[in-house]
Amino acid sequence: MCGIVAYVGPQDAAPVLLEGLQRLEYRGYDSAGVAVVTRSGALKVHKAKLRVAELAASLPARFKGTSGIGHTRWATHGEPNDVNAHPHTDTAERIAVVHNGVIENADELRAALAADGVEFRSQTDTEVLAHLVAQYAERGAGLEEAVRSTLRRVVGTYGIAVVDVSEPGVVVVARNGSPLVLGVGEKEMFVASDVTAFVAYTRQVVHLEDGELAVVRASGYRTFNEEARATHRTPSEVDMEVVEFDTAGHAHFLAKEIHEQPDAVERTLRGRLDRRFATAHLGGLNLGARELREVRRIKILGCGSAYYAGEIGAQLIEDLARMPASSEPASEFRYRNPVIESDTLYIAVSQSGETYDTLAAVKEVKRKGGRVLGVVNSVGSAIARECDGGVYLHAGPEVSVASTKAFTSTIVAFALLALHFGRIQDLSPAAGGRLVEALDALPGQIREILAQEERIAALAAEYASEHAKSGSMMFIGRVRGFPVAREAAQKLKEISYIHAEAYPASELKHGPLALIGPELPTVAVVPDDELFDKNLTTLGEIRTRAGRVLAVAHREIDPALAEHTVVVPKSEPVLDAVLLNIPLQLFAYHAALALGRDVDRPRNLAKSVTVE
Ligand code: F6R
Repeated sequence: MCGIVAYVGPQDAAPVLLEGLQRLEYRGYDSAGVAVVTRSGALKVHKAKLRVAELAASLPARFKGTSGIGHTRWATHGEPNDVNAHPHTDTAERIAVVHNGVIENADELRAALAADGVEFRSQTDTEVLAHLVAQYAERGAGLEEAVRSTLRRVVGTYGIAVVDVSEPGVVVVARNGSPLVLGVGEKEMFVASDVTAFVAYTRQVVHLEDGELAVVRASGYRTFNEEARATHRTPSEVDMEVVEFDTAGHAHFLAKEIHEQPDAVERTLRGRLDRRFATAHLGGLNLGARELREVRRIKILGCGSAYYAGEIGAQLIEDLARMPASSEPASEFRYRNPVIESDTLYIAVSQSGETYDTLAAVKEVKRKGGRVLGVVNSVGSAIARECDGGVYLHAGPEVSVASTKAFTSTIVAFALLALHFGRIQDLSPAAGGRLVEALDALPGQIREILAQEERIAALAAEYASEHAKSGSMMFIGRVRGFPVAREAAQKLKEISYIHAEAYPASELKHGPLALIGPELPTVAVVPDDELFDKNLTTLGEIRTRAGRVLAVAHREIDPALAEHTVVVPKSEPVLDAVLLNIPLQLFAYHAALALGRDVDRPRNLAKSVTVE
């Protein structure tokens, strides 16, 4: 959510900032902007309701400076437009600020500033920061002190970067609830909300903690805690590849990431399957077999697709380890004052490792003495660092807003966890061995499904136009098929804007069957399991009411019950979700394409939700 970059050093700042913003654009893309301070102490700002590439193309000539800040926005306060785009400046254009997060007492601060005669240009909460810093600076405070005094008056979350024309070559940054990382180069320094922005320049990083402030110069940095005491942070090396921002021949990042799934799953599995003991090895759990045997239940926390992946994870753990497990939206968890029991193991799920609600839930559990593992894609991210141990997905960076390969790899990571837990409990070596083989076969089976893309694309286009009549689509599934249906409905909603509802197939006749008719198509997840016949009965009930049905199944469904079937290969039944989900990702992608949507950057969304 919102991307921040800052640079101080010998290079011309604007191209470095714009390159960083390009890499962060997936975090928010309703507007963008940069500000640089020239060597002689002049401030130049260029911002607009444009994508980063367009902003770069429209950069005025002689936009030169050796320090600067940049921002790509996901609007919270004020509509996306040129004026509300960051950076924000004070009236005299001395101070410029970029901000990620939400200032909760912005109205109160605005009123106080307005009483002092300040006139506001934007509707943002961020603008108050620029005016406040300027007020302190005008009263004689240096930039560091002016920012510190401002933040003492602020309630809310922030990652900020601030420049002052009176101090060229200095950027002051601070974080509270929104990620900020310093990148330490050779006589140059970088700052960003995500390492990907500058990893092409340096891998030496310092992750700021909440409450920390840093003064950054080309020669280095100094960090301070809330009490203004130096925190002396030494850089560590981040293990991350430079994200190549091209779609590798695909039309979109989403298509690329869907097609990367065989490789992503291979990486999630790599080095973790143990045929000899028919189990999985997970080096980062920090949880021995004896400790694990004391765990009585597992609670999984995540948001959106991560929560749905957690539902599948809970079923895997119950099935294989016979341990009670459930998944809950992390965004709700801490507000119900949850009881944290010492024999419950918590697992936080997050692709980005930054989702504010998930991070807050982890902190709540830890504050109450609970133990939390992470199932996280982004190495070294805030959630990964906050957890007591966990499993990295190694799915590779996910750029498109809608999660696909991370979702699939999360289920696979849960299968590894469940196998490991199961083999410590009562899962037999024979059953464990079957699981190991089935996991190993997944990448090839995913390739088989991806080979059906052309047909799925044609079906998606047909169903998307069907939607034009009803404005909606129903997704159904039972037990293992239900979280698959929920995720598929979510994927369709977020990228095609077709309204989609997911229901357990068994619940249809308790209410939503009233909606079924020729204009409301149903997508049914129908694995070849013990509920197969019951699922067919539900399809019959839909067809009787003239509803159209597209089934995703392990075998062709009678055309009298489902007009179309997409057949996926069979696996071990507990792994069904992995494969049943793949055609539905393609379905959502092609439905969105057929409707001309911006599939990589759907409206109103952003990749990392770092605000509450
Ligand atoms: C859906 C999607 C979101 C995320 C959710 C959590 O396609 O991407 O629902 O799954 O915002 O994000 P992470 O996994 O980064 O915590």
